[in-house]
Amino acid sequence: MERKIVLEAVGFLLVLFNIQSCYGQFPRPCTTVDALLSKECCPVWPGDGSTCGELSGRGTCQDVTLINSAVGPQFPYVGVDDRENWPTVFYNRTCQCLGNFMGYNCADCKFGFRGPNCTESRRMIRKEIFRMNSAEKSKFIAYLNVAKHTISPDYVIPTGTYDQMNNGSSPMFVDINVYDLFVWIHYYASRDAFVGENTIWSNIDFAHEAPAFAPWHRYYLLHWEHQIQKITGDENFTIPFWDWRDAQGCDICTDELLGGSHPTISGLLSPASFFSTWQITCSRAEEYNSQRALCNGTGEGPLLRNPGRHDRSRTPRLPTTAEVEFCLSLTDYDTAPMDRSANFSFRNTLEGFANAQTGIANRSQSNLHNSLHVFLNGSMSSVQGSANDPIFLLHHAFVDSIFEQWLRRHRPTVAVYPEANAPIGHNREYYMVPFIPLNTNGEFFEQSRDLGYDYDYLAEPGSIEDFLMPYLEQARQIWQWLVGAAVVGGFITAVLATIIGLACRKKRKPLTEETQPLLMEAEDYHSTYQSNL
Ligand SMILES: *[C@@H]1O[C@H](CO)[C@@H](O)[C@H](O)[C@H]1NC(C)=O
Ligand SMILES: *[C@@H]1O[C@H](CO)[C@@H](O)[C@H](O)[C@H]1NC(C)=O
Ligand SMILES: *[C@@H]1O[C@H](CO)[C@@H](O)[C@H](O)[C@H]1NC(C)=O
Ligand SMILES: *[C@@H]1O[C@H](CO)[C@@H](O)[C@H](O)[C@H]1NC(C)=O
Ligand SMILES: *[C@@H]1O[C@H](CO)[C@@H](O)[C@H](O)[C@H]1NC(C)=O
Ligand SMILES: *[C@@H]1O[C@H](CO)[C@@H](O)[C@H](O)[C@H]1NC(C)=O
Ligand SMILES: *[C@@H]1O[C@H](CO)[C@@H](O)[C@H](O)[C@H]1NC(C)=O
Ligand SMILES: *[C@@H]1O[C@H](CO)[C@@H](O)[C@H](O)[C@H]1NC(C)=O
Repeated sequence: MERKIVLEAVGFLLVLFNIQSCYGQFPRPCTTVDALLSKECCPVWPGDGSTCGELSGRGTCQDVTLINSAVGPQFPYVGVDDRENWPTVFYNRTCQCLGNFMGYNCADCKFGFRGPNCTESRRMIRKEIFRMNSAEKSKFIAYLNVAKHTISPDYVIPTGTYDQMNNGSSPMFVDINVYDLFVWIHYYASRDAFVGENTIWSNIDFAHEAPAFAPWHRYYLLHWEHQIQKITGDENFTIPFWDWRDAQGCDICTDELLGGSHPTISGLLSPASFFSTWQITCSRAEEYNSQRALCNGTGEGPLLRNPGRHDRSRTPRLPTTAEVEFCLSLTDYDTAPMDRSANFSFRNTLEGFANAQTGIANRSQSNLHNSLHVFLNGSMSSVQGSANDPIFLLHHAFVDSIFEQWLRRHRPTVAVYPEANAPIGHNREYYMVPFIPLNTNGEFFEQSRDLGYDYDYLAEPGSIEDFLMPYLEQARQIWQWLVGAAVVGGFITAVLATIIGLACRKKRKPLTEETQPLLMEAEDYHSTYQSNL
């Protein structure tokens, strides 16, 4: 009897085991005439007064080397946009940090490390917002407001193109608060290109509609988290996420959380929410295009949101668990032509340009990631201005967790990320626009645990796995002996049964979620974060 239980227990463990295997900103010191004309962005590390902290072995000032692999046909110009061959229109030398150091002057630790010499590794957990206690929720709302009211000490934004700055001899940069810095970064990566005297090219985006969508936003969120940790002094801060699978509406749109709707004025936030006082920026793409100007960070009115008042023929409801599951089952990270028309592409389906039940691209539908943007029907709904709404962060953290599930399930090497022929900005070795320090897309096509973070709902099984590993190994080694030794077997049975009991309890919830039926028989649902909202 006991033997049987032991065998079953170990067998179950093995099954369990197998299932488990289931900064664009411009650094302030680099915006002087000297830095721009010399094209060198190698600031001093204040710790020892040397550039890039070289005297302390943190890093050195190096020429930027670009890997020029072929790009897709989506952007048929060369030499017209400041973001081409990033960052070489502005700088051709930057700090390259050594070891675990990071940052434009190597002052910081790489994600996942801390301590004066960046030698302590750490893993942070991002939590689902409804699993946070009220103190944690209030702290998050407070930090957002701190970010909105704190001028970035590290970064400024350009208010003109390189050409408008006379190739660097007349710098145009302004201060910006930390929250809006990230709004601007997202805008700048996705803005249209000014071509020649009077042409606007909108089929260009360094963060969307192509392979870099997942790693670019992964880096963006890590960078955001890192800046909040710095300005608040809370080294343990992580972005919460919103698990919107099967949600009937915007259940985080309450005054306690991200803001309820205004009682009388459609499209505005409730006056009882902090966020009703926020000013948005970078939301007027057409105005910038017509003036051939960049967003300069000035306020452009209140935050707009009107959950569920969107075009339902494009997005009939929020995504279901089954749709997320279908998306995760796609084995190809991206497929030719690696843009919004890609079929059976994990990336394009996750991003939402492809149907989440078939994987076929469809321009008249907005699915998964895109569907949330469209559903919120306000600031979130235009690509360039979407980061104005703090829901952006919670939404993208959850999207990142789906990317993470895909990485864990399919265990790709970085070679799976396209090396060539992706749309401009999206090849593996391209430096992500507009970040300085430099990071390639490929560097963030990596599991979150290697970047020092995890998600609560993914970490639980993982940590049980880690916890059980030694027991399981032992059980394997002493198998014969185990089967014969009833007394010891009984003891181990008890231990294993307890552990399995815990494991099953933790596992059970996601399983029931996954078997929930679709909310609607969605055959006829339509779509954009529309093609070019
Ligand atoms: C970097 O740019 C500066 C200024 O244009 C130029 O003098 C220098 O030769 C360039 N260096 C490299 C490595 O391209
Ligand atoms: C950090 O590194 C410096 C230089 O190698 C060394 O002098 C110092 O003791 C280290 N500090 C810690 C806390 O390890
Ligand atoms: C900037 O550099 C470009 C290319 O080198 C040149 O064609 C242009 O005349 C320069 N503009 C100014 C204002 O110096
Ligand atoms: C962050 O978490 C670590 C580990 O739990 C703890 O030792 C440290 O005091 C925390 N730091 C802050 C600022 O709360
Ligand atoms: C910022 O841009 C807006 C147009 O988007 C313009 O009206 C305003 O004058 C600019 N402000 C500055 C200081 O350039
Ligand atoms: C909101 O939805 C309506 C259709 O219901 C659409 O016409 C409008 O453009 C949407 N607004 C935004 C900001 O997405
Ligand atoms: C995607 O599939 C549809 C439907 O089969 C097809 O019409 C379309 O050409 C395909 N697109 C690509 C890029 O292969
Ligand atoms: C695209 O979506 C529309 C609206 O849902 C649908 O009518 C059409 O059949 C779809 N096209 C393809 C190729 O799946």
